[in-house]
Amino acid sequence: MTEVSMPTNIALIKYMGKKDTVLNIPDNSSFSYTLNDLTTTVSLSPIEGKQDHWDSQEDKSRFIKHLDFLRKTFSKDIFYTIKSSNNFPSGCGLASSASSFAALTECFAEINQLNLSIDEKSALSRQGSGSSCRSFYKPFALWSEDEVVAIELPYKKFIHQVIVVSSEKKTISSSEAHRLVKSSLLYTDRKIRAEKRLTELLDSFRKQDWQKGYEIVWQEFQDMVALFETAANPFSYLKLSSYFVLDTLRDYWHTHHDGPLVTMDAGPNVHLLFREDQESMAKMLGDAFRERFMVI
Ligand code: DP6
Repeated sequence: MTEVSMPTNIALIKYMGKKDTVLNIPDNSSFSYTLNDLTTTVSLSPIEGKQDHWDSQEDKSRFIKHLDFLRKTFSKDIFYTIKSSNNFPSGCGLASSASSFAALTECFAEINQLNLSIDEKSALSRQGSGSSCRSFYKPFALWSEDEVVAIELPYKKFIHQVIVVSSEKKTISSSEAHRLVKSSLLYTDRKIRAEKRLTELLDSFRKQDWQKGYEIVWQEFQDMVALFETAANPFSYLKLSSYFVLDTLRDYWHTHHDGPLVTMDAGPNVHLLFREDQESMAKMLGDAFRERFMVI
């Protein structure tokens, strides 16, 4: 049996829309912070026979499809019992394809002693789920086309919190969202906006202009939300409580001229990233939100 844990990541500039849906080549660059404390552990145990056995609760078909892809790519003929678990509470709406596909890929490479480079493992994992290719790099990852690089910035570590407003399973998967946003008129210039924000965000982080960073990260996730809402068949992941949390954070920034970076995924929950020197602010805001929501 071989067991491997990999972290998930949160995108500050979002991967939205694909150029190639088989290889998962994105239309625009994305940029993420790796969440070392939120991990998925995958174990593979070889079994007799010609069929994998799935021993977890997550969506199985994509996972087994990825294992099949890895097996074919390396001409292997061994099947496995697969186990997968997250170190964060299940049912909190944070089931992460990024960490689970990264862990499955890493585990397959290890059990088969494939001796692959990080770049090679990342590229294989990308074909399972795009955002997982960024989980192989830290503290920050920049993904463009078929390449991912680790980025060092003056901020070495963030304090990360998720305000869990709903743990319901989403009805539209992120893979589907990548397809649906293309019908939005706003999608025409999406790449231009994302690349411009990427340049400006890296610049503001390098200059440690935190407020500018917050503004760009806010505008970027709102851009993603707008793409969802302006698709031919509009959809949204936000709940009323998501708007309450966002309003509270916007007001906090207006009052204090400081606060956390705020972003969202394809889901209703709100991610906060604080600088290390904002520890007491993180505790205060976390405690305040904990009165109404789960905070992890
Ligand atoms: C909104 O990586 O889940 O989280 O490649 O189809 O598996 P697939 O999509 P996925 O998309 C993630 C989209 C996002 C933004 C991001 O992580 O960059």
